[in-house]
Amino acid sequence: MRVLGIETSCDETAAAVVTEGGDVLSDVVRSQVALHAPYGGVVPEVAARDHARAVVPVVREALSRAGVTAADLDGVAVTSRPGLAGALLVGLQAAKGLAWAAGKPLVGVDHLVGHLLAVFLRRNGAPAERPAFPYVALLASGGHTAIYRVDGPSLGAIRELGATRDDAAGEAFDKVAKLLGLGYPGGPVVDRLAEGGDAAAAGDAVPRPMARKDSLEFSFSGVKTAVARHVARRGRPEGQALRDLCAAFQGAVVDALVQKTVRAARAEGVERVVLAGGVAANRGLRARMAAACARRDLALFIPPFASCTDNGAMIAYAGALRLAAGERDALDLAPETRTALPRVTRKGGGVR
Ligand code: KG4
Ligand code: ZN
Repeated sequence: MRVLGIETSCDETAAAVVTEGGDVLSDVVRSQVALHAPYGGVVPEVAARDHARAVVPVVREALSRAGVTAADLDGVAVTSRPGLAGALLVGLQAAKGLAWAAGKPLVGVDHLVGHLLAVFLRRNGAPAERPAFPYVALLASGGHTAIYRVDGPSLGAIRELGATRDDAAGEAFDKVAKLLGLGYPGGPVVDRLAEGGDAAAAGDAVPRPMARKDSLEFSFSGVKTAVARHVARRGRPEGQALRDLCAAFQGAVVDALVQKTVRAARAEGVERVVLAGGVAANRGLRARMAAACARRDLALFIPPFASCTDNGAMIAYAGALRLAAGERDALDLAPETRTALPRVTRKGGGVR
């Protein structure tokens, strides 16, 4: 089975052709980062307009690199939720047009399910070993941060164990980078600076326990506020002081992500841990998660970077599994801003 996947939920226009076995035949990602950078975050209207410009060329490129035409496809998968409504709409309309014209089945995919299954994609550099079900997954990106128990690939087999009550982890990186004048997106810059920094040298600039220790929920807005106050009092740090502050901030975020993911795996009696989302690129997170999992005899699976950040391949793969299960959607499929996965965490509830 060869399935085209289209992703336009946020600031990447992406398309890919993937088999139901997870082999990535092509994977094209066109980032809008430069367009949004002047604003320090994604501007929904700008995102939708640029998806409209890019979606057809990106889909064409994905088909051509895979050496197929629309007629060779077994279906068209598209991110239908969650995301920016206007951005989702562009991908949905492109997918519907193609599916209708070529007479192929259409399947909508929940973007979060795509992230949670991306570990199965087979591309160069992918880990030879894939996890068996069940596994506990930490999904940390610019838009989402949550821990899931994954018993299988379908919506009903995925359960949220805890999520952030306010900002996503990547959002915290981006906001802190903006405060420090480091540009957008902030994750990669802060990661690089943190490597040369000493968290202890930053003193108590960044608070440690960011959320109630015994819960599986996160809260990242307090750290961001602490950095904002620090900057307001003393101005933007430079040189070593900047590196130290980045190390302290990153350490606080990474500690919470690692502690809670490991606690979730142990509480669920699950021996496998999977990382997903753009923040999984963070070197501090990778190193500390690897060490924590090794200590607890947990097997850790970290997909290659291209599978962690937003991409069409994960959507194509999740869609291929839906198609293989005999599922499909009608051409009136509409975008939804929220995930279809049940939530256990109340957003905006303050620190817990
Ligand atoms: O998954 P992704 O590409 O898009 C979303 O769905 O949000 O994640 C992007 C997020 C951004 O917030 C970016 O700052 C963060 O991932 N990120 C990182 C790193 N690389 C990207 N955060 C921390 N460390 C990194 N090395
Ligand atoms: Zn994403």
